[in-house]
Amino acid sequence: MRVLSGIQPTGNLHLGNYLGAIRNWVRMQDEMAAGSECFFFLADMHSITIQEGREQRLSNVRDMTAALVACGIDPDRSVLFNQARVPAHAELCWLLCGTARIGWLNRMTQFKDKAGKNREGASVGLYVYPVLQAADVLLYQATHVPVGEDQKQHLELTRDVAIKFNTDFGVELFTLPDPIIPKQTARIMSLRDGSAKMSKSDPSDMSRINLTDDNDTIAQKVRKAKTDPEPLPSEAAGLEGRPEALNLIGIYATLTGSTPDSVCAQFAGQGFGAFKPALADLLVTQLSPIRERFIALRGDNAALDAILEKGAAKASAAAEPTLRAAYDAMGLMR
Ligand code: TYM
Repeated sequence: MRVLSGIQPTGNLHLGNYLGAIRNWVRMQDEMAAGSECFFFLADMHSITIQEGREQRLSNVRDMTAALVACGIDPDRSVLFNQARVPAHAELCWLLCGTARIGWLNRMTQFKDKAGKNREGASVGLYVYPVLQAADVLLYQATHVPVGEDQKQHLELTRDVAIKFNTDFGVELFTLPDPIIPKQTARIMSLRDGSAKMSKSDPSDMSRINLTDDNDTIAQKVRKAKTDPEPLPSEAAGLEGRPEALNLIGIYATLTGSTPDSVCAQFAGQGFGAFKPALADLLVTQLSPIRERFIALRGDNAALDAILEKGAAKASAAAEPTLRAAYDAMGLMR
């Protein structure tokens, strides 16, 4: 079993990232059997699709490294690194550009969402982005990829690229990865709009809970979260057509390790005036230790850089045989 996943080091780690992906990373790391390995990385090469200055980019990578360690990623047990330090990602991406089809990329909903109406003005990087993601996964022969639901389509493309490469060159080089998507928290929604996912690119900071938010900010964001005037139903089925309520109940259920049905049973007939403070307390209790660890770690740039350097050396060694075999399969002398 080889687990691999990545996150873009832009903006703060938010509750959607945490419940959708990072908690699963930590769980998989902690439950890993002997002989299995976990690779987690900062997708800084993907972040070139976002306009940012040099200093900001450097700071973002350290922020996200500290955040992941604060959430429980242990750099001694998992390989934690940033993509830019492992050039094999960019190299394999280019080789796979010969395999991926334009028609496949044209179907990617994330490109459509991010490019918006101005497709002609979008960067080539944004378009090719899923091929780099395929390279990230295939380079390590990953078997399991813990992600939120929004990455499912990219993982399907990764499988298509692997199958086509193996078939075209008559090799059994690339392993087909399986996405690991949590059931209840596959898509945490914005606190301001139950039909949009919680995202670091949302211009309103009130739409998300950042793992660096202080206790008062968390409480305020929950208090101001959009809801409806109806009381809570006794079963989760009664939340149909109430996306904001469903989202908050789902978050509560995940944080308490229960189900939306049992949360509804607990708050049945009560309004959000009773539910929101309980949710805010829960979030503060669970997120404040992470925030405190983050602040302590973020003060030491040298220690964070050392973690990434060590991780990159391990990642490069793990990637090398697959990269070499891909060049060889294509008849490219290296
Ligand atoms: P990114 O940086 O947008 O998000 C990191 C992880 O968080 C999940 N996520 C969510 N889950 C539930 N609800 C939400 N509102 C929410 N928002 C984000 C994402 O699904 C993701 O798992 N392209 C990827 C990074 C990447 C990658 C990879 C992932 C690059 N190469 C290889 C896996 C394998 C991205 O931009 O994730």
